[in-house]
Amino acid sequence: MSEAAEARALSTGGIAPVAPTLDGVSRTLLIPLLARAEAQSLWPGVAFDDAAARSLTAQLAVDRAELGSDPFPMRLCISRSLAIQEALGAFLREPIERTLVLIACGLDTLPVRLDASLEPAQQARIRRWVCADLPPVMALRDQLLPTSERIRHVRASLPDQLDEIAAALDETRPVFILEGVLPYLAAEQVADCLAALGRLAPAGADLLIDGYHPALLAFSRLGNTFRRMRTRFRFGIADPRDYAGMAARIHFRAQQDLLRPLPWHHRKRAWLPSLVAGGKPLATLAQLELRPSTEDATPFRSVRHD
Ligand SMILES: C[S@@+](CC[C@H](N)C(=O)[O-])C[C@H]1O[C@@H](n2cnc3c(N)ncnc32)[C@H](O)[C@@H]1O
Repeated sequence: MSEAAEARALSTGGIAPVAPTLDGVSRTLLIPLLARAEAQSLWPGVAFDDAAARSLTAQLAVDRAELGSDPFPMRLCISRSLAIQEALGAFLREPIERTLVLIACGLDTLPVRLDASLEPAQQARIRRWVCADLPPVMALRDQLLPTSERIRHVRASLPDQLDEIAAALDETRPVFILEGVLPYLAAEQVADCLAALGRLAPAGADLLIDGYHPALLAFSRLGNTFRRMRTRFRFGIADPRDYAGMAARIHFRAQQDLLRPLPWHHRKRAWLPSLVAGGKPLATLAQLELRPSTEDATPFRSVRHD
């Protein structure tokens, strides 16, 4: 049996599957999926391998012409996947259990990849995965990727239709991972989304969010991928510290430049936007913290003058 057929049989428990369809599903999710599947040819020698992504792409009838042939956004996707894995590995070195909430998960195979990269003690600290996206995407994900007591699939719609995520959380401190979705929202929706995540986690949470400088988004049509897909980016961020001003309780912790790990000849596209951005990082993974809600009340407590 081929790798793809075997994966399909596993994910359906051997029952003849209905052919997976991309109807109603955003094609943008194919870019990171293909990037992960083809990482070794896009970025030879990179320490990244995703057999599950290769198996998924083999099962989907992907029209490559529709996606364009620009390798730059795909390499950026590999870099952000690596950065997210690294950040999650660091969280899981702390001796507390975590619920990892993958919002706008698309067909990201992160749960499989991360498991393969962790020590047993780190793996044991994952209480649960909650993978969430729009209903048509989750219907597709249900067909292609297995759920279990440890991996839940739920529906969610940003900025604030997050009830099924709320129902899947418990007292464990969550890590909310938003990868490749905020650029498609308006700035007010991003603020609403951060506020909604705050309501989900009154005791606090960690957030990993990728962000792109407006200059990079403005030049994104230099390549044929986003031009061909007629992608409209709405939210860019020049400095990830600015997330802190967008919603209560958000604190900036750290950022990682996602372009830096790419070999220089794969970054040539970035020189013009870099000039416009005055040298600021063009693509980042920001690590934010949602502080517990009680702490927020402190500065507003009335002061006695007696
Ligand atoms: C570029 S894909 C990224 C998918 C995934 N994070 C990855 O890296 O493979 C964008 C994803 O955002 C999802 N999405 C778009 N708008 C959304 C919304 N309002 N609420 C939830 N998900 C949304 C799409 O369905 C799609 O799966």
